Amino acid sequence: MLFVLLLFLLPLSATSQTYRNVTLGSSLTANNANSTWLSPSGEFAFGFQQIIQGGYLLAIWFNKIPERTIVWSANRDNLIQEGSKVQLFADGRFELSDPRGQRIWAATLSRVGVAYGAMLDTGNFVLANNSSVVSWQSFDEPTDTLLPTQTMNQDGRLVSSFSKTNYSRGRFLFTLQTDGNLASYTRNLPMDDASFAYWSTQTMGSGFQVIFNQSGYIFLVAKNGSVLNFVASNAVSTSQFYQRAILEYDGVFRLYVYPKYAHSEGGRAMAWSTMDFIPSNICMRITQSTGSGACGFNSFCSLGTDQMPNCDCPVGYSVVDPNDRMSGCKPNFAAQNCDEEARETDLFSFIEMPNTDWPLSDYAYFHQVTEDWCRQVCLDDCFCTVAIYRDGNCWKKKYPLSNGRVDSNVGGKALIKIRNNNATVY
Ligand SMILES: *[C@@H]1O[C@H](CO)[C@@H](O)[C@H](O)[C@H]1NC(C)=O
Ligand SMILES: *[C@@H]1O[C@H](CO)[C@@H](O)[C@H](O)[C@H]1NC(C)=O
Ligand SMILES: *[C@@H]1O[C@H](CO)[C@@H](O)[C@H](O)[C@H]1NC(C)=O
Ligand SMILES: *[C@@H]1O[C@H](CO)[C@@H](O)[C@H](O)[C@H]1NC(C)=O
Ligand SMILES: *[C@@H]1O[C@H](CO)[C@@H](O)[C@H](O)[C@H]1NC(C)=O
Ligand SMILES: *[C@@H]1O[C@H](CO)[C@@H](O)[C@H](O)[C@H]1NC(C)=O
Ligand SMILES: *[C@@H]1O[C@H](CO)[C@@H](O)[C@H](O)[C@H]1NC(C)=O
Ligand SMILES: *[C@@H]1O[C@H](CO)[C@@H](O)[C@H](O)[C@H]1NC(C)=O
Repeated sequence: MLFVLLLFLLPLSATSQTYRNVTLGSSLTANNANSTWLSPSGEFAFGFQQIIQGGYLLAIWFNKIPERTIVWSANRDNLIQEGSKVQLFADGRFELSDPRGQRIWAATLSRVGVAYGAMLDTGNFVLANNSSVVSWQSFDEPTDTLLPTQTMNQDGRLVSSFSKTNYSRGRFLFTLQTDGNLASYTRNLPMDDASFAYWSTQTMGSGFQVIFNQSGYIFLVAKNGSVLNFVASNAVSTSQFYQRAILEYDGVFRLYVYPKYAHSEGGRAMAWSTMDFIPSNICMRITQSTGSGACGFNSFCSLGTDQMPNCDCPVGYSVVDPNDRMSGCKPNFAAQNCDEEARETDLFSFIEMPNTDWPLSDYAYFHQVTEDWCRQVCLDDCFCTVAIYRDGNCWKKKYPLSNGRVDSNVGGKALIKIRNNNATVY
């Protein structure tokens, strides 16, 4: 849904002497010159950022901090080459094209017409007509981030990045559904559909809009304006801190602040620090019948002292893609031989991990048994990858393992079966 917003005309104060509207016919080219369109304060920039060698993103970022943190992008699934161009045509079309002139992305304009573009101090890039009525704005098409003064309507969505350094659409979704429920989901890659809801406001029939207000509060309101749910809140002032809320690649929605000046209120470090986040423990929240859980297959999730989820591999396993902790784990050893004559039972043993489980991937269950019995029944079974032993219960786990977690609330222990000569890769 497009809605029309009247722009505040910013006074041309001393800080914005050089600020100009983006006029029809203007363009930017992806190259090493770093040319950008700045907001009046210079706090936000619109332009190209080089993400990998020869791969550029058309983006908006915080421009006064060294991190140049990206808050929006046009072509996240499709990095473009040097020489690509974004152009505001004389007729108001706003398009990104590659060096051969092939169109990669275009703004979907409303009918009000376009006379100019502007990078605003809110971080919103707008295309507007001569009465400053907005035809298109980046705030209506968020990628993974919301900024103060931004709202999200029904059917609005944030999709997490694939990883810390890969901005492609990734594994998680945060959406205000058309039924009014605000929810976080795992995504069913490579399909675009939502898979498992691991957080929600339970506001079916009443949720209308998500508001990130100027004071740094994010909340869900009903159509009549009453607050239904405080999603995240913040006790710092917008004049002293940059703020952003992002659905991160690990599935956690976090509210971050960054001091605008050294020696700001509360003596915060000159870096992004987390003010609030949901859900509180994603490792325990994602228990899906299909899919890998909060981490990749065969790995396990645990909250660090910084409350961030970590994905790790069991002993004897290693991460599939060293650049992506969520890519899952592969065994460093050959599977157990299932032939009757060569069972290899004596070549395997267990690594014990307390408070560890991979829920829902059981294929056998025994109760009122001892731990020794549980170990033996797994050792004798070439299909058994892991056994869980808890309170006299024994579960045999299927490969690949999913929903792995380590948490003091889990109890019991995981018995991870590995080949004794575990360092050898067959
Ligand atoms: C463009 O930005 C990159 C990365 O910040 C920097 O290394 C380079 O020197 C800049 N180029 C120019 C011409 O400013
Ligand atoms: C907008 O107004 C300016 C100045 O009045 C005029 O030169 C320009 O042609 C107008 N643009 C459009 C698209 O109407
Ligand atoms: C941008 O264009 C609009 C519409 O023509 C105009 O009202 C406004 O003053 C311009 N702003 C700047 C900074 O030039
Ligand atoms: C801008 O769009 C609004 C809404 O459609 C319209 O009323 C207004 O006349 C337009 N202004 C110009 C200068 O075209
Ligand atoms: C980012 O991840 C996607 C999905 O795995 C992959 O297709 C793409 O090549 C990656 N992009 C980069 C720049 O590594
Ligand atoms: C506003 O809407 C909510 C949800 O639909 C409802 O519970 C509440 O009573 C309404 N408040 C007023 C003042 O109408
Ligand atoms: C933002 O929301 C909070 C909580 O509802 C409220 O206390 C504060 O006054 C609001 N700030 C603005 C600028 O509307
Ligand atoms: C092999 O297993 C032992 C425990 O049996 C462990 O200490 C060692 O780190 C493992 N080595 C590798 C390479 O996984």
